[in-house]
Amino acid sequence: MCGIVGFIGAQQAAPILLDGLQRLEYRGYDSAGLAVYDSARGLQLAKAKGRLHVLSELVDGGAKLAGTAGVGHTRWATHGEPSDTNSHPHLSDSGRIAVVHNGIIENYMEIKEYLQGKGMVFHSDTDTEVVAQLLEYYYEDDLVEATFKVLHRIEGSYALGILCADHPDQLIAVRKDSPLVLGYGEGCSFLASDVTALIKYTKTVSYMEDGELAILTRDGIQVYDSLLQPVEKERTTVDWDISDAEKGGYEHFMFKEIMEQPEALRKAVSPRIQNGRVVLENLTLEPDFLRRLSRLYIVACGSSYHVGVVGKYLLERLLRKPVEVALASEFRYSEPLVDENSLVIVISQSGETLDTMAALREAKRLGGRILSIVNVVGSSIARESDQVLYTWAGPEIAVATTKAYSTQMAVVDLLALYFGKILGTVEESEYHAVLDEMLLLPGKMEAILSNKDDIQYFASQYFNHDSVFFIGRNVDYALGLEGSLTLKEISYIHSEAYASGELKHGTISLIEDGTLVVALGTYGKLFDKAMANVLEVRSRGADVLALTTENRRADMEKNANAVITIPETHDMLLPSLGVVPLQLFAYYVALMRGCDIDKPRNLAKSVTVE
Ligand code: G6P
Repeated sequence: MCGIVGFIGAQQAAPILLDGLQRLEYRGYDSAGLAVYDSARGLQLAKAKGRLHVLSELVDGGAKLAGTAGVGHTRWATHGEPSDTNSHPHLSDSGRIAVVHNGIIENYMEIKEYLQGKGMVFHSDTDTEVVAQLLEYYYEDDLVEATFKVLHRIEGSYALGILCADHPDQLIAVRKDSPLVLGYGEGCSFLASDVTALIKYTKTVSYMEDGELAILTRDGIQVYDSLLQPVEKERTTVDWDISDAEKGGYEHFMFKEIMEQPEALRKAVSPRIQNGRVVLENLTLEPDFLRRLSRLYIVACGSSYHVGVVGKYLLERLLRKPVEVALASEFRYSEPLVDENSLVIVISQSGETLDTMAALREAKRLGGRILSIVNVVGSSIARESDQVLYTWAGPEIAVATTKAYSTQMAVVDLLALYFGKILGTVEESEYHAVLDEMLLLPGKMEAILSNKDDIQYFASQYFNHDSVFFIGRNVDYALGLEGSLTLKEISYIHSEAYASGELKHGTISLIEDGTLVVALGTYGKLFDKAMANVLEVRSRGADVLALTTENRRADMEKNANAVITIPETHDMLLPSLGVVPLQLFAYYVALMRGCDIDKPRNLAKSVTVE
């Protein structure tokens, strides 16, 4: 949600800002804008509702905005509809200060009324404009001092990029609860919401902490803490490559990322299995603490939550301890029973999801230990956790998650085995059987991907349906949650996932001639039950597209209209393979319906507001 870029150097800023914004498009946005300073023309502004190409055409790819310092923004509307006026940057009354913002200023109304009382005129409906105007209000000739006064007055979450015509040789950046990365170049400095916007220009970055303020100049970046004391920031080198964040010949990022899954899984799993044992880097949870645990929590949002739903089955089975899986947005307000004997596993691809972050803080406040599973290195959730396991999936750009889900799943599998071994609750034979199978997963995924044409064919049969139900039991139910979400978010087909046993408590009344039911029957122990549910919906007129394992194809074909299979694997790992055909199915359906696959309407990749 909302992307920020900033540049100050010797080159023209606008093309670099547009390029950075394009790389942040995946975060989700509905309008975009730039402010660039030039000594001859002063502060110039360009803003446009709609996709980035509208802004780019408006400024002729940047050529119309001369200048070597500037800030850019992609906006995902919260306060005020998407419009040219509400787009960022916002200017102060005099027009000399430009501000871009990611987050929400919670007390903006009170400040706005105060400033209006002082005669200041506001032009937009946004909370952000208040920051620009308040800066002007406090500004005498010291922009840093004015910024500090503003920070004491505003409440909420913010990453801010500030450019002032009176101080054109610097950009100011501040953050609280919204991400900001600083980039160090040769004779230039960068600012961005995440590293994907920077890696074309520099791989040397540092991550801002809450309460910090950075002054970016052509000669370098100086960071201060909330008491205005200089901070020596640790610089890290990003190991992602620019090609990881580009389509590389594929039509869509989502398809590229689906195809990258076997490799992503290899990277996440292989280094963590050594001499037949799970080795989890830097994980320091004392065996005594694990034994004492009366309960584990898994907290996450969206697809990461769905990984948690599978994780609950696995962890309970291997640890014989209760696992509570919770939506972060609910958990944070539910007075959770977390204490110092609780382990809270937080799962997040971006590491920036606001609800997940808030849940983490709540769990920490209650004394729980936080172990996070995160993809983005240096992200807020990673930094605030007691322990972090990275998924090493590389940048995931498409809004619908694919390789992040798969690698999160693999890390949860490893974690379940690792804890089970320490607790002595997993049998040696099962431990080794699962580990051996984990190493085979990438190859089995490749086999599924090489049969993608079959799935494309099924998509061509069903893409016109208005409503779909995914049904399954146990891990197949958890898998259905993810399959259904992926389908609905990118194809806009109404879709629901149901535990098969629950169907007859209401939902079966919606099954009629031609309703599409995706029946998930990969879990061998409950295959007969899955078949019974297929018959149940078939007899009410449903078209059934079933997913099962290769050995059960013939049985399933007796009852379903169409059958997709995955290779055999250990029960615990079935969702890791099962998810791949469901991703492909959703992708092809969305393609046939002409949808904007990588950037579905109304959605954001990184949800940094509540
Ligand atoms: C958004 C994304 C989902 C993701 C969810 C949680 O809705 O589109 O793919 O699962 O946020 O994000 P996180 O980064 O915390 O995993």
